[in-house]
Amino acid sequence: MARGLSSWAWLKKPYCIQARFSYLRMKYLFFSWLAVFISSWVLYVQYSSYTELCRGHECKNTICDKYRKGVIDGSACSSLCDKGTLYMGKCLSAKPNNQVYTGSWGDLEGVIKCQIDDILHYNLGTEMEPRKEAVLFDKPTRGTSVEKFKEMVFSHLKEKVGEQANLQELVSHVLSVADGNKDGHISLPEAKSAWALLQLNEVLLMIVLQDKEHTPRLMGFCGDLYVTEKVQYTSLYGISVPWLLELWIPRGLRRSMEQWFTPSWPRKAKISIGLLEFVEDVFHGPFGNFLMCDVSAANFGYNDKHDLKAVDLRRVVPETVLRHVMRDRRCEVDDDCIYGADCQTSCDLTKRRCTTEVVQPNLAKACRALKDYLLRGAPSEIREELEKQLYSCMALKGSADQMEMEHSLILNNLKTLLWKKISHTKDS
Ligand SMILES: Nc1ncnc2c1ncn2[C@@H]1O[C@H](COP(=O)(O)OP(=O)(O)OP(=O)(O)O)[C@@H](O)[C@H]1O
Ligand SMILES: [Mg+2]
Repeated sequence: MARGLSSWAWLKKPYCIQARFSYLRMKYLFFSWLAVFISSWVLYVQYSSYTELCRGHECKNTICDKYRKGVIDGSACSSLCDKGTLYMGKCLSAKPNNQVYTGSWGDLEGVIKCQIDDILHYNLGTEMEPRKEAVLFDKPTRGTSVEKFKEMVFSHLKEKVGEQANLQELVSHVLSVADGNKDGHISLPEAKSAWALLQLNEVLLMIVLQDKEHTPRLMGFCGDLYVTEKVQYTSLYGISVPWLLELWIPRGLRRSMEQWFTPSWPRKAKISIGLLEFVEDVFHGPFGNFLMCDVSAANFGYNDKHDLKAVDLRRVVPETVLRHVMRDRRCEVDDDCIYGADCQTSCDLTKRRCTTEVVQPNLAKACRALKDYLLRGAPSEIREELEKQLYSCMALKGSADQMEMEHSLILNNLKTLLWKKISHTKDS
């Protein structure tokens, strides 16, 4: 009997092995198929989002077409369209309507920005002029004299930055930028490019703050495509984590992760002084007051000398523009009166309209962005004082105009405290 059983087992074994083998093979096949499926899906998603996001060549073709037809002209046109010395490199775009590419222009490195489609330039509201105005390049019209163009620029700037004593000086700045080939004369195609560029908040800011250290330089333009100085480090701090992982990381840990891989404290102090100087530049600057409506780490970077550079000026808006938008806005609660990410006014419940005064000055927002950044690793002898100053800065309320004295006192104290600590180091 035992012998019979063992021979039965002998017969069954190859069958078992065979079944197990084909099961393994099936499993292997299934998993390989799954891996191929998932990776091709990922590749497809990546590719389609890349083609959706990165349409720089479409942008270039439209611009060069207009240039060749003589509609537009500018300092970057012949390099981009004729000589091919202005190259579009890596695509950095985060939104399809705002094309951002690294660029090389002869020996210079820059960033090329270009707008496409008739999507609105600003997703902040409808207060800014739509893309169509620029795409058509229909202003100024043929026959417009230089004097008339000057008047157009003057009234446009007056509308944007408000009535300023030295507005004529700003008009002259705009005209000197518009004269792309520096022949002392502004041709109609140059004027059309300049007009299209003036509709872009970022370019307006670059012209207004052109001599300021913390604003990237406007290197050239063609139509409403423009080249700016490249900022080496494009965020003050923060690390990006895949979104799936992001969901699992506790808030506290995520906040402290933001401060990983930042430079040494003296360098952070130097960068922070730069941000405080930028606050000074934009408010009470030579051509009016501007409000920083998105003071997040991603909008400010720095170069290898640790000088702060603004990366994205699209959300630094003239105070007059904000007042204008808010005046017309209906509201039920204060949260209905937010512009951009963090320019807030209050809701006047009697009129159900937003008021026009911002509740927080730029400085308070800058201090909020700098708090964890500066306190982490701060030298023990100034930590307490620094913390105290940062908190009183964050507590500033109202517009800078309303509490001028307090505002400048806090700003100067902070700058002095940081400067004293780093002035003797090689990082300063
Ligand atoms: N002058 C510059 N130097 C270097 N990188 C830049 C410069 N300007 C923009 N960038 C980078 O280009 C990328 C795209 O910029 P963009 O402002 O279009 O998108 P974003 O900041 O991610 O989104 P958002 O639309 O909210 O501003 C960003 O990663 C930004 O850091
Ligand atoms: Mg941006």
